Amino acid sequence: MASTILVTGATGTIGTELVKALANRGVTVRAGVHSIIKGDRLKHLNPDVQLVEIDYHKPETLAVALTGAERVFLLPPPTSDQVELARLFIDAAQKAGVRQLVQLSAAGAGRDAQIEIDRRHHEIEQLVAASGLTYATLRPEGFMQNFVEQHCATIRDEGKFYMPLAEAQVAYIDVRDIAAAAATLLTSDPATHAGRAYHLTGPAALTGQQVAEALSQGTGREVTYVPVSDEDARTAMQELPAERVEELLALYADYRAGHAATVTDEVASLAGHAPHTIQQFANDYKALFQPED
Ligand SMILES: NC(=O)c1ccc[n+]([C@@H]2O[C@H](COP(=O)([O-])OP(=O)(O)OC[C@H]3O[C@@H](n4cnc5c(N)ncnc54)[C@H](OP(=O)(O)O)[C@@H]3O)[C@@H](O)[C@H]2O)c1
Repeated sequence: MASTILVTGATGTIGTELVKALANRGVTVRAGVHSIIKGDRLKHLNPDVQLVEIDYHKPETLAVALTGAERVFLLPPPTSDQVELARLFIDAAQKAGVRQLVQLSAAGAGRDAQIEIDRRHHEIEQLVAASGLTYATLRPEGFMQNFVEQHCATIRDEGKFYMPLAEAQVAYIDVRDIAAAAATLLTSDPATHAGRAYHLTGPAALTGQQVAEALSQGTGREVTYVPVSDEDARTAMQELPAERVEELLALYADYRAGHAATVTDEVASLAGHAPHTIQQFANDYKALFQPED
């Protein structure tokens, strides 16, 4: 029988693309979804995708989801208690006897993990390394899709996006490339990648101005990057939980310090193709940035 691959965070930005990438490879995919209703659209991607409910706060759901899964993609929920939740998942994976665990971490966890989000990823990496499971780690840089998740409304309504990045360069990665890299790890011999960590980036380190130029070209309307102060960014993010706002401001400061500007060739070596450029991203997602009628 073909081995079953459990994808956690399956309805999220990376998870959706990973389910698609694995289903295209013809492997048995079990999508771990927080709610079956939300997960139902994954069935439309491919009717053979299995759905299983996972709530990290309910360890019994982890045990059920992991039963019979040989390989797993661990995307710890993006919450402040994610280290504890990841610990529960790792324990359950050990008990279930999984053959390989691929974890989603963050680029900063492989540097000095100076900021809170990176420190949590670093701690989870250490738990995984100490677990005795065969594992591999993906450490992506900032996502191109953040421009959809976080800035789509102002780009649509005003043709502008506001970030406290000054002239900082970031080697933004398209999440489709993270998914392609993860799909390779989850379908090749686990021993080949055992214990290895991959720093995944896009093909270039970009300023906000360069992102704006790509979005302008992709959408056919002028999009402008507006550098703002931390204070203005804090005010603009007031609908987010205070803790999340401070995490994002720390991340932006890290970017301004030049820590996210390194470009690697790890997507090409894992996925077997060049990473998407910001222009390809802007062209493919242009409909989401258009003003509503
Ligand atoms: N954004 C970046 O630039 C960047 C860069 C590097 C690394 N990262 C890392 O990437 C991760 C986020 O990935 P993403 O953007 O794909 O995430 P996402 O889109 O926010 O998706 C998170 C997923 O987790 C699920 N989830 C939330 N709480 C859960 C719970 N208690 N039990 C089970 N599932 C739960 C969500 O389901 P529901 O929606 O149904 O709750 C969703 O499917 C974070 O760890 C972040 O640190 C991000």
